[in-house]
Amino acid sequence: MSGKIIDGKKISKSILLELKKEISELDEKPKLSIILCGDLIESVIYTDIKKKKGTEIGIDVEIHKFPDDIKQEKLIKKIKELNKESDGLIVQLPLPKTLETNKVLSAIDPAKDVDGLTPLNFGKTFIGQEELVPATPLGIIRLLEEYNINIKGKDIAIIGKSNIVGKPLAFMLANRGATITLCNNNTKDLNEKTLKSDIIVSATGKPGLITKNMVKQGVIIIDAGYGKKDGKAYGDACFDEIKEKASYITPVPGGVGPMTVAVLLENTLKAYKRNKNGQI
Ligand code: GUN
Repeated sequence: MSGKIIDGKKISKSILLELKKEISELDEKPKLSIILCGDLIESVIYTDIKKKKGTEIGIDVEIHKFPDDIKQEKLIKKIKELNKESDGLIVQLPLPKTLETNKVLSAIDPAKDVDGLTPLNFGKTFIGQEELVPATPLGIIRLLEEYNINIKGKDIAIIGKSNIVGKPLAFMLANRGATITLCNNNTKDLNEKTLKSDIIVSATGKPGLITKNMVKQGVIIIDAGYGKKDGKAYGDACFDEIKEKASYITPVPGGVGPMTVAVLLENTLKAYKRNKNGQI
């Protein structure tokens, strides 16, 4: 039996369509500000996609570009200004090494924090009060729900402990009753962890990291990795060989990636509505 493909592109399109309809009924356009420091090619591409998709559904998306040697105080001052005039504000990561990511992110107004990365929103997610949560983890949970994949009671291995994907996803899946193994670069015997997992989520950006002998029959693979080899995009999982063993698998591209963009824009509309209603 060959695994069913989880079609993130299709699901993200239906989310965007719903958002477009809802936004068309508003009196004004929600505004999303994106801060981009430096010219890392992946970040330039991701922010351009966010702008393109946002604009298509009626969100006013503005990318604010800064050189990679921008001073932290100047960046924080700019964030504080943009907090006032935006409904949603994100700082594209990774930041240049000279900047302290946590300090920069802490300058974002939690009510505008549509990436869910400020200490307040991160903490709320941790305690199960999920309000503004990071887009990739929420996109992954949406994919599982959309395909009626039960989370409760499942053994789930997450590979990659980043603040954008692995850590918040671990809390969010634990909030839903799963048992989580959060793996990282130093994990011993990764195979042993992945082999006993019902669901594996990988977000490392190392193409080919997960091979078919690392997974059990019927596994569900959610591939949030993105790496390029010879100009072609690859996920962390060896798709063709694992597909034969998996019950479900996300492709790269067309799986998790488009969901991240759709959920970010959904968060922007959510923040817009919450701010209009005076909720934080
Ligand atoms: N870099 C890669 N993915 C993301 C994301 O979802 N949000 C931000 N801010 N930076 C990223």
